[in-house]
Amino acid sequence: MDIKTINTSAFAGQKPGTSGLRKKVTIFQQQHYLENFVQAIFNSLTNFQGKTLVVGGDGRYYNKTAIQTILKIAAANGFGKILVGQNGLLSTPAVSAIIRKRQAFGGIVLSASHNPGGPQGDFGIKYNISNGGPAPEKVTDEIYQHSQTISKYKIIDSPNIDLSQLGINKIGNMQVEVIDAIADYAELMEELFDFSAISKLFSSGFTMCFDAMHAVTGPYAKTILEQKLGATIGTVVNGIPLEDFGGGHPDPNLTYAHDLVDIMYGKDAPQFGAASDGDGDRNMILGQSFFVNPSDSLAILAANATLAPGYKDGLAGIARSMPTSEAVDHVAESLKIDCYETPTGWKFFGNLLDAKLATLCGEESFGTGSSHVREKDGLWAVLFWLNILAVSKLSVEDIVYKHWAKYGRNIYSRHDYEGIDSELANELMENLYHTFSSLKGKKFGRYVVEYCDDFSYIDPVDHSISQNQGMRIGFQDGSRIVFRLSGTGTEGATLRVYLESFEPDTTKHHLDSQVALADLIKLADKIAKIKDYTGRDKPSVIT
Ligand code: G1P
Ligand code: ZN
Repeated sequence: MDIKTINTSAFAGQKPGTSGLRKKVTIFQQQHYLENFVQAIFNSLTNFQGKTLVVGGDGRYYNKTAIQTILKIAAANGFGKILVGQNGLLSTPAVSAIIRKRQAFGGIVLSASHNPGGPQGDFGIKYNISNGGPAPEKVTDEIYQHSQTISKYKIIDSPNIDLSQLGINKIGNMQVEVIDAIADYAELMEELFDFSAISKLFSSGFTMCFDAMHAVTGPYAKTILEQKLGATIGTVVNGIPLEDFGGGHPDPNLTYAHDLVDIMYGKDAPQFGAASDGDGDRNMILGQSFFVNPSDSLAILAANATLAPGYKDGLAGIARSMPTSEAVDHVAESLKIDCYETPTGWKFFGNLLDAKLATLCGEESFGTGSSHVREKDGLWAVLFWLNILAVSKLSVEDIVYKHWAKYGRNIYSRHDYEGIDSELANELMENLYHTFSSLKGKKFGRYVVEYCDDFSYIDPVDHSISQNQGMRIGFQDGSRIVFRLSGTGTEGATLRVYLESFEPDTTKHHLDSQVALADLIKLADKIAKIKDYTGRDKPSVIT
């Protein structure tokens, strides 16, 4: 066995963000860059000798190259076994499911989620712990510390593994098993949802379009929707994973999932539309010419959870990220269960799920999930909706309106200003924070400021504190404006402005959210001086 110790020096900025380390492919391609970070991950871990690691990615450019390197570093560091998805593919929720099912020590996910791919695109690497979820901040902080002091890494000199063939290989003393990327995940979905009801729905002529956006969910969706549930062949579009996602931006929203939007808003649209992102953890749900806001989707899944066999005994609690609308809070209140408000990012849900304080969780950013894994899960959300559609026999639109009639509507929108100057973005946030001392009690038209703060969170399980998680302005009528800077971008800064207003009046439920939120949108600009700082007169993405 030929273990080599390679001298290296630290790269600045290997700091994991909201969801792992994300950088341009060209940065990862620098000599030692990936190796350093992988070794930093292993240096932050203890007691992994002889244990199993799950490795896979969303198939983007550099995925296969990075996997070969990771396998050799893992072998040199003493892992006993690696489970790697066939062709290097594993969706993020599948990694989580496999870690849990096979009781692995942890996993490495190679993805930059919804960011574009290709030689000029983005790449990313994220470490998941033994509960199947993203490493919590204390682990990512340690990885970062190690990355900043690293001086050598270990690697085995051995030929590449053929990732296209299922079966067991060896690197040094370590086994590398190439596994079916879909089987474990599909089995878990069958346990959670009423596959026979959904099959009947499809056999009765129900129509659907699933846009895999040339990303990782293509093979998963084809197997589960078309082969197992009997949806018509062709239900899954853009179903072949491509290294550059066909040149697209694999983010399932109204702007980037345009193929699906054209179909669902066109003539003879199918009854149900859905899309998932690069690594399969996000979802967008559409009816015929009808968009379901992700915050509403979470609330609707919570309200109807007992229709799915996996949740028939009800929910222990619900968790949502702070900027996510309070729609699900109304459901929690009516179910008399707790609703937790966490900072942005899935890693904050892990403790709540592990401690069984929450069963369902979600974010406004097209992420929904549950205790079945420790990641958000795109296809899971789609199957959950199919289960509800199959049992309720209502249309997507009817389900949403019925929900609003019962709980009221939290009219919601997010405005993103992408690729703005980082310094100006920080100044905007600082200036905003300085206005807070004089903002409380101030009246702007019908809006009176009730509170404003920089959100911080104390984890109810391990009592860790996370500060500076976004600026909140809450108004007396329950409306909110939240300002955050993205932690996942790779170029400049992205300002996110989250807008929400509660509307109990059913005669106003049909209103377009941009129209209904117009005053709040103007107010956000007035308070934060968005146009002045960014030089932009409109957001680049509205969801
Ligand atoms: C974004 C979303 C956040 C999500 C994350 C990873 O992070 O806002 O909800 O968890 O992507 O998918 P951000 O760029 O806002 O830091
Ligand atoms: Zn993702």
